Amino acid sequence: MTADPNPTQSLLDLVAAHQNADRFKTLLWEGSFADYLQIVQEQPAVARNAYQRLYDLIEHFGSETYTEYKKPIIRHHFFDDPFGEGKDAVFGIDIHLMKLVRVLRAAALGYGPERRVILLHGPVGSAKSTVARLFKKGLEWYSRQEEGALYSYTWVVDGEETPSPMNEDPLHLLPDEVRGPVLERINRNARYPIKLDADINPVCRFMYRKLLKRYDGDVLKVLDHVRIRRLLLSEKDRVGIGTFQPKDEKNQDSTELTGDINYRLIAEYGSDSDPRAFNFDGEFCVANRGVIEFIEMLKLDVAFLYDLLSASQEKKIKPKKFAQTSIDEVIIGHTNEPEFRRLQNNEYMEALRDRTIKIDVPYITRPSQEARIYTRDFHKRSVAAHIAPHTLEMAALWAVLTRLEDPTHHKLSVLQKARLYDGKSVPGFTEDHVKELRKSAKREGLSGISPRYVQDKLSNALVRDPDARSLNPFMVLNELESGLKNHHFESDEERERYRELLAVVKDEYTDIVKNEVQKAIAADEGALKRLCDNYIENLRAYILKEKVKNPFTGQYEQHNERLMRDIETKIDISEARKDDFRRELMNYIAGLALDGKTFDYTMSERLHRALELKLFEDSKDSIKLTSLVSDTADADQQAKIEVVKQRLIDNYGYDERSAQDVLQYVASIFARGDAKEGS
Ligand SMILES: Nc1ncnc2c1ncn2[C@@H]1O[C@H](COP(=O)(O)OP(=O)(O)OP(=O)(O)O)[C@@H](O)[C@H]1O
Ligand SMILES: [Mg+2]
Repeated sequence: MTADPNPTQSLLDLVAAHQNADRFKTLLWEGSFADYLQIVQEQPAVARNAYQRLYDLIEHFGSETYTEYKKPIIRHHFFDDPFGEGKDAVFGIDIHLMKLVRVLRAAALGYGPERRVILLHGPVGSAKSTVARLFKKGLEWYSRQEEGALYSYTWVVDGEETPSPMNEDPLHLLPDEVRGPVLERINRNARYPIKLDADINPVCRFMYRKLLKRYDGDVLKVLDHVRIRRLLLSEKDRVGIGTFQPKDEKNQDSTELTGDINYRLIAEYGSDSDPRAFNFDGEFCVANRGVIEFIEMLKLDVAFLYDLLSASQEKKIKPKKFAQTSIDEVIIGHTNEPEFRRLQNNEYMEALRDRTIKIDVPYITRPSQEARIYTRDFHKRSVAAHIAPHTLEMAALWAVLTRLEDPTHHKLSVLQKARLYDGKSVPGFTEDHVKELRKSAKREGLSGISPRYVQDKLSNALVRDPDARSLNPFMVLNELESGLKNHHFESDEERERYRELLAVVKDEYTDIVKNEVQKAIAADEGALKRLCDNYIENLRAYILKEKVKNPFTGQYEQHNERLMRDIETKIDISEARKDDFRRELMNYIAGLALDGKTFDYTMSERLHRALELKLFEDSKDSIKLTSLVSDTADADQQAKIEVVKQRLIDNYGYDERSAQDVLQYVASIFARGDAKEGS
């Protein structure tokens, strides 16, 4: 909880302090047609089309470029969900998002994609809806900013108000003969040349005609009846944002897309061909000026197909009994693989297939990126539990492993492949290998476990703990495993494979924590430094063929080969390779000395590790970790263990309980190891 800066303030004052009347006023601005022409001239972007607005919105948040396998990749910050506090951020599939943005850019420039359906295609739970939601939320947000402002109008005739039922741009009211000259002026300083080829909707055409007659053809007098207002896109208010989800196939009716006659109003207006007796509440009408999302687009009944086709290709819809009406909206759909395959085989759908731009939205195949999903979900304030280090990381690793194809390279395990994909190094493999691996695994990321499965199991594991205060990798791995029983699989082998991968993850976790505990035990800087100095002194003596002074006896002695080998073998330096290692290190130290610097162990990652392991080995017996398992620690032991535990808490993100758990776990492994050595 953040402290309340002013606890005595009444709640009503608090509301008053946080409201922004000025902003509210701007958003509720109203003006005349002449005012609007002025606005368009100064800021032509208000009249850009829906694709242009969406693309500009993405650009608004900027991007950064990084290199992956020698290729530049653009990360658009829009996908960090800057207007939703990151709740809908999309991670780890930048290449695919980049393709999507490229399509939107081409559409904004009018190169063709604006006449296509954008179809997001991917396995269940791969962020397709998340991307669509970002577009919607983003457009809502943008329409409230100055840069994203857009306008529509209401007719005011004899005291009665009739809003443009499809929230059209007021410029559509300009008669054909003046459009050319007006556009010519506006487009002089427009980022996108504005085009006006759209037809006005039937209601406004009706109003326009009626007034034109009343004023004997005086257009200016007609336009006097128009009141311009800011258009604030809102999914909840059904303005500019539409969603269509096919229901029961028998129950689909095209009026859901294009609107329907209002029988009550026919009585009022006297005829079913009076456009005012029509409800423009079909999803295409509602979504005009913004975006329409088709959930499971390919489940759409063929009866809808024609509406969809003309909506994308001609940018027109055909309301019952009326002429075609122009629309201006981004059409985006999503689908999963089995349905997409059905589309490939269905000749009725050929026309749609031909007008579709497919964008793959696969699963993440980098463990660290996958982990970001769960970190976002579970490391928030509303989750009060302490999550032990590596918990979410291990869940993510498993999820990614299920999605990877077995490496064809016989020297590479699937775990190593995941490491490579994460940008880590595996001896013997270069960036080019990784590129090759990626290329040869065509279906990677299109199957495997969905993030949703992992999210569900994580939350199960959290509440399983009686007081829901802590979560550790074992709780999660167990939950992931027991869930497999009820999960749908194509085959039993598949289920078995997922299980085996859990074992792979367990081993990996064991390695990681063993390492961590070893480091914590050896994290005695003074001792590390002494050991390092000792090694370096012997190293110098060895290379220069000198003797070392024994600090106790003052005698000059042969270098301590045993100590050196004890350290070197910790990082697998063989007898044959030891000379290379020693010479390289000595050269490095000499180089530093030339620059007036002194070597310390943190400068060589390998030596540091070797020293840690040696120190750990030496202190293992004095800190009897294994006594933790047998409960025989005396006070002195207990104090030493407390020091290690505190280091785990201070340096590695553990809390009291998880540090105790992990020490216990590692102790049990060593106890087993000791038993083996002893036998
Ligand atoms: N690349 C990703 N980055 C961030 N979160 C992701 C990613 N992929 C999936 N998720 C998370 O997984 C969950 C499912 O995502 P979403 O609902 O967008 O999937 P979907 O592709 O629409 O699935 P379905 O096909 O089942 O409708 C969400 O919580 C989402 O945040
Ligand atoms: Mg979805």
